[in-house]
Amino acid sequence: MRNNALKPYLTTAWAGQCFLYEEETDSTNLMAKRLAKEGAAHGTLVCAARQSAGRGRRGRTWISEENGNIYMSLLLRPDMEPSHAPMMTLIMAYSVAKAVEQVCKVKTGIKWPNDILNGTKKICGILTEMGMDKGMISYVVIGVGINTGQMEIPEELKDKAFSLDIGKEQKEELMAVCMNLFEENYETFAGCGSLKFLKEEYETRLVNRGKTVCVLEPGNEYRGRALGITEKGELLVEKETGEIVEVYSGEVSVRGVYGYV
Ligand code: BTN
Repeated sequence: MRNNALKPYLTTAWAGQCFLYEEETDSTNLMAKRLAKEGAAHGTLVCAARQSAGRGRRGRTWISEENGNIYMSLLLRPDMEPSHAPMMTLIMAYSVAKAVEQVCKVKTGIKWPNDILNGTKKICGILTEMGMDKGMISYVVIGVGINTGQMEIPEELKDKAFSLDIGKEQKEELMAVCMNLFEENYETFAGCGSLKFLKEEYETRLVNRGKTVCVLEPGNEYRGRALGITEKGELLVEKETGEIVEVYSGEVSVRGVYGYV
């Protein structure tokens, strides 16, 4: 991929305008964090063909062979409270879901907070990391892994993962459209400080909605019915006692009672 590969499809002022591509890196999130410390600009996008130390949520590994999958990370320098970082992850999930629909004509669902699915199978995972300085956000890195390549999904993942069947050019278009939609949504969010503008559309894709979920918080585990999201991006869960709680995405994992969704 060339460093100007996304240009033909980009309509942004900043997202992806500075684009760096490597054949191999440890993790595009780590690469973006290093660049952040060197002063890289808001909107810098990094991408690699393979990652030797791809990272997933909750300390997991993200297998990142060179098989045509997308491994990319966007660097942001938001002037916002640290508590707003999870909202940016939801904005990315929503933007990627819409981009996949537009470019690949594949219907998408979202498993709160930020897995993109086709049916019950995962297409994309998102890992957001943040750097702080004196209690304020210094940078946010949003890492996005999209299955676009593995035509041969390993047997053990067959009923959990889905790969979009697209070629090189469509892949570049997909990355650019993710940036176009993300920038538009991020600007709306930065203007109002709330996710009210996407709540309804996010909820129509929310695969957990109306389902019984198991909320796994560090040191606390409970079941309830997922009702939707709040304007701050928390998941609304009605516990078996009837109490309605707002689940903040940070370290939480939500599972279906009978499986992943
Ligand atoms: C998850 O679902 O657990 C999140 C996976 C995030 C994977 C992406 S691939 C690009 C970026 N670099 C990483 O090391 N991780 C993210």
